[in-house]
Amino acid sequence: MKVLITGAGGQVGCELLACAPAAWQISARNHAELDLANPAQLAAAIEGEQPQLVINAAGYTLVDRAETEPELAQEVNAEAPARLAELCGRDGIKLIHISTDFVFDGRGCRPYQTGDPTNPLGQYGASKLAGEHAVLDGLPGALVLRTAWVYSVHGSNFVKTMLRSMAQHDAVRVVCDQIGTPTWARALAQAIWRAAERNLSGIHHWTDAGVASWYDFAVAIAEEGRTLGLLEQLPTVEPISSSDYPTPAQRPHFAVLDKQETWRALELQPPHWRVQLRTMLRDFKDRPDA
Ligand SMILES: NC(=O)c1ccc[n+]([C@@H]2O[C@H](COP(=O)([O-])OP(=O)(O)OC[C@H]3O[C@@H](n4cnc5c(N)ncnc54)[C@H](OP(=O)(O)O)[C@@H]3O)[C@@H](O)[C@H]2O)c1
Repeated sequence: MKVLITGAGGQVGCELLACAPAAWQISARNHAELDLANPAQLAAAIEGEQPQLVINAAGYTLVDRAETEPELAQEVNAEAPARLAELCGRDGIKLIHISTDFVFDGRGCRPYQTGDPTNPLGQYGASKLAGEHAVLDGLPGALVLRTAWVYSVHGSNFVKTMLRSMAQHDAVRVVCDQIGTPTWARALAQAIWRAAERNLSGIHHWTDAGVASWYDFAVAIAEEGRTLGLLEQLPTVEPISSSDYPTPAQRPHFAVLDKQETWRALELQPPHWRVQLRTMLRDFKDRPDA
């Protein structure tokens, strides 16, 4: 199988490369090598590589900044995937596209199923939802995999931000009224490869197991980080409400995805998020500059 990965420099892109099936031929392009928003570059990459599968791990992921540059978010997260789907459809190429829990408004109180009504609260979620529609309209056999709260040793994410902040301050304040599931990008990447092998299509959900608030997640980062010696002392983590931490983009309060069907289809049952966090932190300790 010949695979083209876009956004190969991001968290998910790096982890896809780290655990790619050994026998598959992988061509990886980061943002500098392939700008998804450049139609000519995109077409040239598909024509040049002639892959059998494209994994689109590129995305405009700046949730707050998207409120002030919605056109760019739409361009990268919706219009470019639409073009990608069209190119893939024309050449009989499979496509896996990554989406987000932010397509939901978070006003529910049970895990979201794939067919539940969407209602994004901000520009980022709106652009990702438009991307889902564009991909599936252009290529009904594509896979749209929604995930959430992704972290890894690569790039910027909540875990690395917390560790930095906890190393500098005795106490940190973290919102406790937004609930979701932390997801290690490595496990997500493994699920994506399994989905590729099994030719999964349509909308699916994938995160690690369990649920947490950002506050719970921060407490776990502090405790696990201290145990591993990544922090010299255990900081105080103070729970606050979202109203005490206003952000340009509103975030869903309850963003837990129902993954049962996808776990069954892939025959993959991910560990609880805290176990995954521990594994990622061990990895981070060994190579903090990843
Ligand atoms: N992170 C999360 O919590 C989360 C949650 C749910 C879903 N997702 C989805 O998962 C996917 C991967 O996200 P991630 O966590 O790996 O985010 P990430 O670390 O920000 O990676 C995204 C990558 O896309 C690249 N990119 C941005 N604009 C591009 C363009 N025009 N052309 C080509 N590449 C471009 C970025 O490059 P630059 O850094 O150089 O701009 C970055 O390397 C995205 O679709 C995202 O929406 C992420």
